Amino acid sequence: MKFPLSVSTAVLCTLVGHVSSFPSMLDSLSPSARQVIEREYESSLLKKRQIQTLPPLTLPPINIPGLPLPLNIDLPGLVTVGRKIIPDADHLFKAPGPTDQRGGCPGLNLMANYGYIDRSGITNVGELLYAQQEMLGFDTVLAAFLVALSAKTMTDLTTLKMSIGLTDSRTSGPLTLLFGQAPGLFSPPAHNKYEVDGSLAYTDEFFTSDRSGNRFNSSIWAKNVAIAKANGGLMNNPFNAESRYAAYQRCVSTNPQCSWLFLEQLVFYAGETFSYLIMPSTGPDGNLEPATIDIVNTFTGAHDNGDGTYTKVPERLPAGSTGPWYRRSIPLTLAELVEAGLASLSKHPVNFGANSNGVNTFLLSGTQYSPSLTVNKVVCLLIDTLYHYSLKYYWCSVSRYSLNTRMEVTILKAVNYNQAPNHHK
Ligand code: HEM
Repeated sequence: MKFPLSVSTAVLCTLVGHVSSFPSMLDSLSPSARQVIEREYESSLLKKRQIQTLPPLTLPPINIPGLPLPLNIDLPGLVTVGRKIIPDADHLFKAPGPTDQRGGCPGLNLMANYGYIDRSGITNVGELLYAQQEMLGFDTVLAAFLVALSAKTMTDLTTLKMSIGLTDSRTSGPLTLLFGQAPGLFSPPAHNKYEVDGSLAYTDEFFTSDRSGNRFNSSIWAKNVAIAKANGGLMNNPFNAESRYAAYQRCVSTNPQCSWLFLEQLVFYAGETFSYLIMPSTGPDGNLEPATIDIVNTFTGAHDNGDGTYTKVPERLPAGSTGPWYRRSIPLTLAELVEAGLASLSKHPVNFGANSNGVNTFLLSGTQYSPSLTVNKVVCLLIDTLYHYSLKYYWCSVSRYSLNTRMEVTILKAVNYNQAPNHHK
């Protein structure tokens, strides 16, 4: 079912609903994370484990005089919740064609390969909200958070379209000339905004000829597979802690322009935990199966050549123990993701900052990790920052600058450069 509605970017994050709860999985969380999740679900309409369908969304149109609104979001359909075989018959795997955009995010590539977002890799906020929930079992708040974060760099704010790879004129609309072309998520102008250094599978932007940050790197992936092998063959939270720490050391010692800033990296530490929180299939008991190397290889699109090298192939859903891939029983929340990211970081705390003048010239930035950081504090920080800066610059700069350029000022500069850097010893 499709239903168009008009809505401004400001209310994107209100597109949140309620999902099911699954208390046994909460037992593994810290008390603070559990509190956040439990509070979130206390008022939930859906508390059962079986698949549920959300009621139709009937937001009224919003018109703001003087602004190029309303913006149309075509929501692709209703979202189901709970363990379910993915894909369905309407979303079979198809490898991308020559004009299709793909980038360095396995999740976005995967959603495009199965047509949960447009197979061209030119998608929009409505599709992304839908696909992350319906295909991968994200909670609505987490899906909305990732989409809203992307608005700071790569979303054309007049069409709400974005390219998941390089910059592409198919994201443009009538007002793009005025506001500027939205850069693709993995294009050079987007570097250090959403896409940052330290990927586990892709070459840092500095080393690529077109500065795209979108080149699969077999030897880096092989190093991570070796870390997983030493970790019992699993790409779980201890793996995430080790692999991100190795990525940090590699970045500082080999990339002259290495940037390892707090908020961007925290999002990346958390994003890497998708390898065990999203990629494995869900077993008949409702729990996620272990994140083996094979499973994560399939999801990441890393084909094992059997000689210690890997070739990039299109991302696919890995098979579960009973055959098909089953989506999560309970949708993944932002709190759970932040808790997993913090857990990895706290095992190997690092200094945050950037190389200033070549390799190993690391200067500290103003914001650093502290063991007193809780899930609540980080979730609030992320959402606060998103709202405060994104919306402030969105509303203030419409007539003065390219909207997309102004959005760049959001999280990166405001949070990380608010204090003079100190030398790192
Ligand atoms: C609006 C939705 C999303 C956006 C805008 C987004 C964006 C990104 C970006 C920019 C990166 C690269 C980070 C970097 O190299 O600096 C990335 C990496 C990653 N994303 Fe996404 N992503 C989204 C959704 C997802 C989903 C649904 C998954 C589900 C599995 C996912 C899994 C990952 C993983 C595992 C990585 C790390 C890959 C690596 O080490 O290079 N993402 N994402």
